[in-house]
Amino acid sequence: MITVKEAKKGDEYIIIDLIKQLAANQNPDKYVETNVGLLRKAIFKENPDCSFLLAYNKEKAVGYLSFTWNYSIWIGRRHMLLDDLYVNENYRNNRVGEKLMIEAKKICVENRIAIIKWEVEEKNESALRFYNRLGAKSKVKVICKWDFNDSFKN
Ligand SMILES: CC(C)(COP(=O)(O)OP(=O)(O)OC[C@H]1O[C@@H](n2cnc3c(N)ncnc32)[C@H](O)[C@@H]1OP(=O)(O)O)[C@@H](O)C(=O)NCCC(=O)NCCS
Repeated sequence: MITVKEAKKGDEYIIIDLIKQLAANQNPDKYVETNVGLLRKAIFKENPDCSFLLAYNKEKAVGYLSFTWNYSIWIGRRHMLLDDLYVNENYRNNRVGEKLMIEAKKICVENRIAIIKWEVEEKNESALRFYNRLGAKSKVKVICKWDFNDSFKN
C-alpha cells in the first residue's frame, strides 16, 4: 500500500537520492548542485524555503513532490508552487503520482489556498496527460532565466 508523508528530519538522504533519480531520468545528474546539508537548512526551519512530500511503498520511498509557497500579487493571495513531481519508474501507473498531488491539494485546502501552479516541459506528454486527468489546466508561456552566477566567481 502506498502512503504519503511530509518529509521529516533525517529524510534528506532519501530526498537527495530521489532528486538524483529524477535528474538521471531527465538528463545527466550534473545539474543537481544541492546536497544533504543545504537541503537540511532549507527544509527544517520555521519558515522553510521548500517542503517535500514522500510516497512510500511499505518502508521504501518511491516518489516525491516538492513545493514552495508563492504570492499572487493581482489576486492578493498565496498559492502553492509545485517544484518537482517524481515517481520511481518501477512504481508508475499505480496512482502514486495522483496520491502525491492529492496530498498537496489537501495541504493547500488546510491552509485555505486554492491554487497550485507548476511548469511542465511541452514535450512531456505523459505528464501533461496526467495533470489534465487531475483537472489541471495548462497554457504555453516562455520561461525567462537571468543567470548571473558568474558575478560571484573570483
Ligand atoms: C508524471 C508521473 C509523476 C506520474 O506518476 P504515476 O504514479 O505514474 O501517476 P498515476 O499512476 O497516477 O498515473 C499515470 C498513468 O497510470 C494510469 N493509471 C493510474 N491508475 C490506473 C489504474 N488503476 N488502472 C489503469 N490505469 C491507471 C493513468 O491513466 C495514467 O496514465 P495517463 O495519465 O498517461 O493516461 C510519473 O510518470 C513520473 O515521475 N514521470 C517522470 C517525471 C516527470 O515527468 N514529472 C513531471 C514533471 S512536471
